[in-house]
Amino acid sequence: MTANGMTRAKIGVLGAGAMGSGIAQVAAAAGHDVVVVDAHAPSIEKARQGLAKSLAKDVEKGKRTAADAAAVEKRLAFLGGADDLSAFAGCAMVIEAIVEDLDAKQSAFRRIEHEVAAECILATNTSSLSVAGIASACAYPGRVVGVHFFNPATVLPLVEIVGAITTDTAAVSAARALVDSWGKTTVLASDTPGFIVNRVARPFYGESLRILEEQIASVATIDWAMKEIGGFRMGPFELMDLIGNDVNYAVTKSVFEALGHDPRYRPSVTQRRMVESNRLGRKTQMGYYDYRDGAAKPAPVTDRALGERIVNRVVAMLINEAADAVQFGVASASDVDLAMTKGVNYPKGLLAWADEIGVSEVFARMQALQEEYAEDRYRPSALLRSMAREGRRFHA
Ligand SMILES: NC(=O)c1ccc[n+]([C@@H]2O[C@H](COP(=O)([O-])OP(=O)(O)OC[C@H]3O[C@@H](n4cnc5c(N)ncnc54)[C@H](O)[C@@H]3O)[C@@H](O)[C@H]2O)c1
Repeated sequence: MTANGMTRAKIGVLGAGAMGSGIAQVAAAAGHDVVVVDAHAPSIEKARQGLAKSLAKDVEKGKRTAADAAAVEKRLAFLGGADDLSAFAGCAMVIEAIVEDLDAKQSAFRRIEHEVAAECILATNTSSLSVAGIASACAYPGRVVGVHFFNPATVLPLVEIVGAITTDTAAVSAARALVDSWGKTTVLASDTPGFIVNRVARPFYGESLRILEEQIASVATIDWAMKEIGGFRMGPFELMDLIGNDVNYAVTKSVFEALGHDPRYRPSVTQRRMVESNRLGRKTQMGYYDYRDGAAKPAPVTDRALGERIVNRVVAMLINEAADAVQFGVASASDVDLAMTKGVNYPKGLLAWADEIGVSEVFARMQALQEEYAEDRYRPSALLRSMAREGRRFHA
């Protein structure tokens, strides 16, 4: 039991897809009884099988005992194919992880609200919709909070807790305490497009694509530089191929549109062409790389000076984005750093990285890019500018 006594409370999950099934497993593993509801019976069957497989793997790897796996499985109830949400009665929190569509989510929240007690927290796992917009469907929007897990939810530790302008601070604290008690790392994010990770990470992909489009370096060379010199676990093109170029393009487009077509986030034509030609990445066996049997992997040009130029440019853009997120209250500097290291495995926090390089040096790199290209895309963050002028650091 945690201090708030909620650890063993019943948890509801609506939507048994990739995210809902993972979240349900995390909650059940933390000792909760969990009821999972999905409108489509086949999704429930798939989730049940996926869970059994995942638990068996944990046992095989020695991560949990067979008895523990059986107990987790027993705590999970799956209900599919029905339109009835009454199984959520008695839940301390219901997490929604259905299709990313505002009308569908609003209608689901309206219906969930009828089934649960007044103190039940209603959480959405939305990646790109506004929490306030979803909450507006509810009679009590104060209890609606964003609880944004990363895929796969059983593996990635980060969860962004998102309070909307309508969310009660008590609901934010309660949701955070509950998710913390599941062993996750939580950060607080404002209800702004992309929250922390999906906003701050844009240049990792966007600037790499731009470098490719300018013919400065090849896909393989950019990936090599970001891994070998930048220290990132995966190169941007490898990662886009893994995520799916359609998914990555959709996130970029959504952030671009939601932030008023700011040129910093403008989607790349190259990426759009990849989607249009069904080169979606690993899932279609063809993306920036060819994944078919026997296909040769292109060799990078391992020129250190070129590699450093690539890394310095992408990292400066990432730090610039992180600084902007702090300035505009998306999150604190420490939560931005925590989010990028725990959510997308960056080798270090971007703002800690800025301190290491020197804020004025990062600012100078941004200024040089802006001068070179004369594009608003490269405008230095005003926070970087003032910090450089005053000789300040992000972290003490
Ligand atoms: N996939 C990711 O990487 C990821 C990461 C973080 C957040 N999210 C968000 O999580 C949510 C779910 O994404 P996903 O990838 O798990 O999707 P998914 O397509 O794998 O699963 C969605 C599930 O919801 C069910 N469903 C759809 N409408 C429903 C309704 N009205 N009532 C009940 N069930 C319904 C579907 O049958 C399906 O099983 C979305 O909001 C998405 O933006 C996704």
